[in-house]
Amino acid sequence: MDFVSKMTVDLRNTLLALTVLLAVKPVVCDHSRRLELWDSGKKGTSGGNGDLVTDLPGQPNVAFRHYAGYVTVNEAHGRALFYWFYEASTRADEKPLVLWLNGGPGCSSVGYGATQEIGPFIVDTHGNGLKHNPYSWNTKANMLFLESPIGVGFSYSNTTSDYNNLGDDFTAKDAYIFLNNWFLKFPSYRKRTFYIAGESYAGKYVPELAELIYDMNKDPNSLQIDLQGILLGNPETSDAEDWRGLVDYAWSHAVISDETHKIIRESCDFEGNDTWSNNNCTEGVDEVLKQYKEIDIYSIYTSVCIGNSAGSDDRSLPLMILMKRTSKTKMIPRIMGGYDPCLDEYAKAFYNRPDVQKALHVSDGHQLKNWSICNMKIFEEWSDSKPSVLPIYKKLITAGLRIWVYSGDTDGRVPVLSTRYSLSSLGLPITKAWRPWYHQKEPLVQVSGWFQEYEGLMFATFRGAGHAVPCFKPSNSLAFFSAFLLGEAPPSAR
Ligand SMILES: *[C@@H]1O[C@H](CO)[C@@H](O)[C@H](O)[C@H]1NC(C)=O
Ligand SMILES: *[C@@H]1O[C@H](CO)[C@@H](O)[C@H](O)[C@H]1NC(C)=O
Ligand SMILES: *[C@@H]1O[C@H](CO)[C@@H](O)[C@H](O)[C@H]1NC(C)=O
Ligand SMILES: *[C@@H]1O[C@H](CO)[C@@H](O)[C@H](O)[C@H]1NC(C)=O
Repeated sequence: MDFVSKMTVDLRNTLLALTVLLAVKPVVCDHSRRLELWDSGKKGTSGGNGDLVTDLPGQPNVAFRHYAGYVTVNEAHGRALFYWFYEASTRADEKPLVLWLNGGPGCSSVGYGATQEIGPFIVDTHGNGLKHNPYSWNTKANMLFLESPIGVGFSYSNTTSDYNNLGDDFTAKDAYIFLNNWFLKFPSYRKRTFYIAGESYAGKYVPELAELIYDMNKDPNSLQIDLQGILLGNPETSDAEDWRGLVDYAWSHAVISDETHKIIRESCDFEGNDTWSNNNCTEGVDEVLKQYKEIDIYSIYTSVCIGNSAGSDDRSLPLMILMKRTSKTKMIPRIMGGYDPCLDEYAKAFYNRPDVQKALHVSDGHQLKNWSICNMKIFEEWSDSKPSVLPIYKKLITAGLRIWVYSGDTDGRVPVLSTRYSLSSLGLPITKAWRPWYHQKEPLVQVSGWFQEYEGLMFATFRGAGHAVPCFKPSNSLAFFSAFLLGEAPPSAR
């Protein structure tokens, strides 16, 4: 049995295990949650000032403040989540607050979002320090990056059994408690207009957390969070649609043959319970994965990282991730529109430095924490995952939240087709037909992508961008983010 088919068997077992878990696991309606929150709140915190970052090695000079550190989410268990918060670069007190989440599950929002995609400091390719990102999203909003759940990045629990419970539900609840306690540290942000954004597997986290906030807000005794909308990039949304899109995209982009595509179309019932018990289907999907092993599934037209295979523990990374998800991400274009698929290693080197950990209030600089960009164990052992968050979309649309979804159209992992299948299954009325959008700042104004507006939802593509869109199109992404915050579609004329 080759590696790919072994992986598929593993996947099948995982899915079977998942099905069983979902079937027997009771729906927990945790009424004690609110009490727990306010209890931990009463004990007070040091205030955001204790978390002010003042001496981050290699940091470019900037005029805004940024904070990093832990927020305890469960005192009894000794559970704490790590955050990094960058105030907006100008007029921070007038700008909204945006929480950014990366996916995996098991991958770090600090390692990807903050330091490779949309944060103000991007990890330098020599691992020595940071460089300024002129397209940082904190030029438009106060940006909060959370490493979630425990086990991701610097976040941890002192109770090892907590790690057996990781899944969507656990993640949403801890993130919610985190927000409550974070607002105690930063009271001036408590009533601020709030948005949640994320990509990849955060396509599940973001709506799930938004739903929890929306539900909890109905209780006048709980913290009222001014959640106004969500922004999702290449998001995992509905497993059936995501698989169908992945396969159809591979076929329509010449990664697999007509024959393989036909076999999959005829034998895979992605909607059903036992998709992976049909051998013809698993063999067809194996073939897709086998072909994707040859290229970068997250960006199908760019080069794979050559130097990466030295780190033995990372060897299986792309394929493992491929079975589920993550933002195996890239770097802002440097020369010839390229990017750096090896950048993950630089981030790892940087965040394991004693002086960096000390500056970020992670450790005393002696007892170091092991930071890695993705925690594979979490990824492998993820215990509950909602098969679809489309019902949550419906609920949030009805609630009047702003929902914008974007998709880099050269991503094979959560391809634009997956997202279109998901959104079209919502059956929303179209209010503004498919059209190109432009970003004026480019030297020669080109089509940035296309967009379509629905009643309650906006969908846009980024032409020529891979899975982690801001890595490929930093300027366009910032313009799009700005449009999202304003609630105004990007320009549809040159
Ligand atoms: C976890 O344990 C360490 C060592 O005892 C302690 O310093 C830390 O405060 C604990 N974390 C939490 C969140 O209680
Ligand atoms: C899927 O499984 C559930 C229970 O495990 C069952 O009720 C349902 O009928 C199944 N659906 C299909 C399409 O087989
Ligand atoms: C699998 O494909 C073969 C033809 O290649 C066909 O004879 C067989 O019936 C298929 N099995 C299933 C379960 O669809
Ligand atoms: C970090 O990893 C190294 C080996 O890579 C190990 O020796 C060390 O004990 C780990 N530290 C922690 C705190 O887990």
